[in-house]
Formats: sequence, C-alpha cells, structure tokens
Amino acid sequence: MSLEETVLKKIRPSKKETKTIMDSVVRLKGIVGDFLRPYAYDVSVVLVGSVAKGTFLSKPDLDVFMMFPESVPEDEMVRIALAAGDEVLRGERMYAEHPYTRGTFDGLTVDLVPCYAIKDTTKLMSAVDRTPFHTEYVISHTDETLRDEIRLLKVFMKGIGTYGAEPNTRGFSGYLCESLAIHYGGFLNTVRAAADWKEGVTIALEKRGPAMLGPMILYDPVDAKRNVASAVHIDTFATFVAACKRYLEEPSDKFFFPAERPALSEGTLSDLSEMHGSRLITVIFDRPDVNRDNLYSQIWKTRYAISRKLDSYDFTVLRAVHDMTRTKIVIVYELERDMLSKTFKHIGPPVWVRAASSFLSKWKDNEYGGPFIDEGQWNVVTERRHRSVLDMLADEVAVAGIGRDIIPEMLLILDHDETLLSVNKDLLTELLDPKQPWDV
Ligand code: UTP
Ligand code: MN
Repeated sequence: MSLEETVLKKIRPSKKETKTIMDSVVRLKGIVGDFLRPYAYDVSVVLVGSVAKGTFLSKPDLDVFMMFPESVPEDEMVRIALAAGDEVLRGERMYAEHPYTRGTFDGLTVDLVPCYAIKDTTKLMSAVDRTPFHTEYVISHTDETLRDEIRLLKVFMKGIGTYGAEPNTRGFSGYLCESLAIHYGGFLNTVRAAADWKEGVTIALEKRGPAMLGPMILYDPVDAKRNVASAVHIDTFATFVAACKRYLEEPSDKFFFPAERPALSEGTLSDLSEMHGSRLITVIFDRPDVNRDNLYSQIWKTRYAISRKLDSYDFTVLRAVHDMTRTKIVIVYELERDMLSKTFKHIGPPVWVRAASSFLSKWKDNEYGGPFIDEGQWNVVTERRHRSVLDMLADEVAVAGIGRDIIPEMLLILDHDETLLSVNKDLLTELLDPKQPWDV
C-alpha cells in the first residue's frame, strides 16, 4: 500500500461516523426549519461547507446556512437568524460581515449563518452569499476518489501548519485546498505542482479575473473577481512550497502527523542562547477582550511594528515568536544586542549641498568632536537617545503602530535573564532552535 493510501485509511471518517453526522444534520435542519416556519418568508435551510462537499475530516464542524429571499431587509434577516441561533444552539454570537451563531449540536460545532439566496455571483450582497456556490462547484467537480485526495491535502496542510485562512495561520482555507486538488487532479499532482511554485503564482480553474497582488492568486471559479488565496501570507505560502519539495524528495507520514516537539530544558536553552551570543527580550501585554481572529491580526501587526522599532534603533532582530495565553500576549525577540554604545555616527548632508552649512553650525560645539567627512558627507559622533533596549521600548512601544486594542500602558518587559527564567519553554525552544514540523 502506498504511503498516501495508508494515511487515507487513518483519516477518512468511518462509515459509522459519517452516518452519525448525517443523522445529526437531518435533525438539525429539521429543527431550524421548524423554527423558521412561522415567519412569513420562504427560507431554505441548507448544509454547506466540507460536510456537504464530502471533503470533511473526523469531528467536522457543520456549516448550516439559512438562505433568505433577496426581498428580506438585512436587519430583519439578521434578527430572525440570531433568534434561530439562540433558540436552536444557545450558541455564541460571531461577527463576520453580518452576525451569526456558533454553537454545538450533538457534540458537533455548528455555524448557523444567514445569507441571501442569489441567482448568480454577480449579484453578491455579502461574502457568505458565495458559499452555497462553492459547495455546488466542489460537489459537481469531484468524485469519491478526488474527495479523498482533498482530505489528504487538508491533513498535509494541517500537519505542516498551513491549513486555515484565519489570521493566526494566514494559510490555505478548505475551499482553496479543494480548488487546488480539482485544478491539478489530486494530492500528489498538487504537491508536484506546488514544489515548482514561485511567489505570485496565478491559477484559474475557470475564468481569469482582474490582475491582483499577493503571494498567490487563485481566481474563485464561481466569482473571478475574488482571490481564494487572499488570506495566504508569503511565509505560509513558502512553508507549503518547502514542504512539497521535501515531501517529493523523501515522502513520510511525518508531514501528515508531525511529532509533538518536546521543549528544551532551561539549561539547554540557556546554553543555546550563550552559543548564539544573542540577547533575548520579551514584551508582554494584557490580552484585550476582543474576538480571537481580530486579536491575532493585531498580534502580528504589533510583532512587526516592534520589530521595526528594534531594527531602527540598531538592536537588530534575529527572530521573533509569539504566543497568546488566556490573559496575556507574549512576544519574544532574539536580538543581536540589547545594549548599545553611548555614541553613534550621525550621517549628515553631502559637503556640496546647501544644507551643509546649517549642519556645520548646528554641530560646531559638539561635545563628542566636530563634524568630519566620510564618503563625501558630513558626519558627526553624537549621543544615542536610548542605550538599552528596555528604555527604548518603554518610550517607543506606544508610538510604534501596535494593534488598536493592545494597550501599551499595560506593557511588561522582561530582559534576557528574566526571559530565560520565566517565558514558556515551548516558545523559547521554537525561538532558539527553529525546526520545520516535518523535521522534528
Ligand atoms: P469552513 O472554514 O468551515 O471550510 O467554511 P470548510 O470547507 O467547511 O472546511 P473544514 O473542513 O470545515 O475546515 C465553510 C465555507 O465558507 C466559505 C467556503 O465556501 C467554505 O466551504 N469560506 C470559508 C470561504 O469562502 N473563505 C474562507 O476563508 C472561509
Ligand atoms: Mn466547515
């Protein structure tokens, strides 16, 4: 049996599980339908997403859509939809373009979402209106074998950490995996193609839409204006390409089922950092009470903003990692240095430009010596604003351009020793000894 067949045997939901899921779907649709009946509108309740498409993995979520006629005003649709969610799921309110409900039914996570039943995707009112078209497209372009190939691709993506379009993964959605497998014809063909992808790769299963920017473009087969891969970050894209190259050289079930990585001990971590000769710094914020996805985008934004500050002040970031706990946001940086010389070289204008004379008069009594010429420009040695990274961050984080709900006043900064002592060892292991999930 091939490696892929062996993996598939493990991941394909059993007949029994599939039957149980389908029974729940029928019951759930019935209950939602009963709830909606007293309303005067003709609402159809449909199953969409991976369970409808036959591309789901074990313990799937159910995506159930209530499709309203276009004549129903949006606020009326949302009101009825949320009432249904409260009644049937007693779930949690989620916010996308319009609100919906997430809850559980028979132990399965359910998204109960309102949308408009539109005739074709040129008349879209919101992004979810496209979803029933996706479901229909995948069903009509796959057979049982290809659906299994899609499952393989999804588990491969999960294994290497690139599955999911949410802001924490910034990766490949289920529908993107489906589109790729349909386009290339199966799992291995997708892997072979992706091993040769370069930044900007452009794929069209149907119509090619307008020019777009991004690490990859896959024109939505049901709506060519949209890039199905718009959530894919360049680093997630690169991780997938790297994994595909490696898989072709040496196939292994480690790509699908990566080994859990044991954290290195405090002693080993301390030896590693000694060996690097680098310095660590940790920035900790209180976790604001906002939606997870929204928060994850803010964490990335914050991490990059602080990174730029660190670089601009010459501390030079080698690498960064982050983590979110129940109450905190933790970002750890490995730096070339955490303490700078008292003075630095301030570069002035070329000798022959008009501004040169004002530079000279400004610095004529400089306590660290007068202006000197280097590479045709006036230079002067002067004092730095901040010598230590702790001082710099305390002063600059608030103006660095961090996420809007992340409060700089609640900032806690740990220096090198404090970081080694008290930051989560898994996170420090990832920082000081980076490894791809398939290489662990
Ligand atoms: P899901 O995220 O539940 O995807 O979104 P899925 O296809 O069911 O895959 P898994 O197995 O649960 O991970 C449900 C539907 O919403 C649309 C797609 O049509 C998808 O099938 N969707 C979701 C998007 O168009 N884009 C997204 O980023 C996410
Ligand atoms: Mn789903």
